[in-house]
Amino acid sequence: MSATGATKAISPPDIAVRKGDTPIVCLTAYTTPAARLVDSHCDIVLVGDSVGMVLHGLSSTLSVTMDMMIMHGKAVRRGLKRACMVVDLPFGSYEESPEQAFRNAARLCAQTGCAAVKLEGGQSMAETIRFLVARGIPVMAHIGLTPQAVNAFGGYGVQGRGDDGKRIAQDALAVAEAGAFSVVLEKVPEPLARRVTAEINIPTIGIGASPACDGQILVLDDMLGLFSDFRPRFVKRYAELGEASEAAIAAYAREVRERRFPAPEHVFSDAGTSADGGKTA
Ligand code: KIV
Repeated sequence: MSATGATKAISPPDIAVRKGDTPIVCLTAYTTPAARLVDSHCDIVLVGDSVGMVLHGLSSTLSVTMDMMIMHGKAVRRGLKRACMVVDLPFGSYEESPEQAFRNAARLCAQTGCAAVKLEGGQSMAETIRFLVARGIPVMAHIGLTPQAVNAFGGYGVQGRGDDGKRIAQDALAVAEAGAFSVVLEKVPEPLARRVTAEINIPTIGIGASPACDGQILVLDDMLGLFSDFRPRFVKRYAELGEASEAAIAAYAREVRERRFPAPEHVFSDAGTSADGGKTA
């Protein structure tokens, strides 16, 4: 809390100094209610381009647009008071040149009020990260399995096994040297994630990586168990909200069909006051 009673939001520099300190807690959110739920528990809330697959039913993140990221970013902004908000640059919005990346990153920052952007890529994106950081845009990098490169990888498999570990280690070093304030390590072997975390001077945020990472991130909908058909090894399901929701929907449908809903307490008398007309009364 500040002297005015307002909560001070966590900034990218606050995250950067947490290297080697207490673990950094991160989750995704795409909507205002989800942002309100996660805000007080998380250091970073990511408006990930996973929104395309999770909320819009797309088969990959490749067709997620700037307009989608801005719409969900604005919604999340309205639900956050404390957590550091990061928004993904979608596929095609930054790879062409540092100038293109700056234009779109600045648009995301200005229109959503996010504190930082995230982009995928290691050594190939180092120049772009340097360009954005020098112009006042904090960048979270993302290496290892980068889902926007699904076609180049031929799927969503683990990256950096065996000799390929050198590439991931070089990517990590490149984004750290370019000025990223943190880096997501996705789906890389545990010993490699541990080694990279020890070797670079910015926080690593793991997903399918290692408990030794400086922080962890999961997609909120995955860890809440909202999907029955998506159960990757790296997601721990902390609830089974998909099953609970389906049971609730089935109960509602049954009660409507049996005319047991609405019950007397859910309907209004003829003699009531205007207080009856409120949203919740
Ligand atoms: O888009 C996303 O949600 C992400 C996280 C899973 C790291 O990039």
